[in-house]
Amino acid sequence: MKQWFIFLAMAGFVLACGNSGSEGQLAASAGGPGMADKPDGQKLYKQYCVTCHGLYGDMGGGGAFNLQESQLSLEERIMVITKGRNAMTPFETLLKKKEIKAVAEYIVTFREE
Ligand code: HEC
Repeated sequence: MKQWFIFLAMAGFVLACGNSGSEGQLAASAGGPGMADKPDGQKLYKQYCVTCHGLYGDMGGGGAFNLQESQLSLEERIMVITKGRNAMTPFETLLKKKEIKAVAEYIVTFREE
């Protein structure tokens, strides 16, 4: 009986983890202890994106898009960041997939503030 319960608890844990990539959990990406395996979107943004988009996404350096006004979905942002668009550099070779996702999640917060 007890073993069965442990199995269920573990299955639940695995499911919860598998889900952590979904868009619905953006709020959880704010950081905090226990999130060490998740790339820091804000840090990556400051490192790779401020030069064109500015600290708050609205600098527009070199014709860069104002990220505060972006209507793109998370998937579309990931696409633009990965493949680039016009004057925007593709980050495919510079960042890992999960880093691109983290930075895309971070820039969504510009619109909400
Ligand atoms: C070399 C300057 C440059 C850098 C560095 C840069 N961008 Fe851009 N970005 C642009 C330009 C220019 C555009 C507008 C592209 C166009 O006109 O189609 C753009 C557009 C975008 C868009 C599309 C917005 C929309 O609504 O259409 C997103 C999202 C974006 N950038 C995110 C990022 C992120 C995240 C980073 C850092 C990983 C980054 N950019 C780094 C120049 C840059």
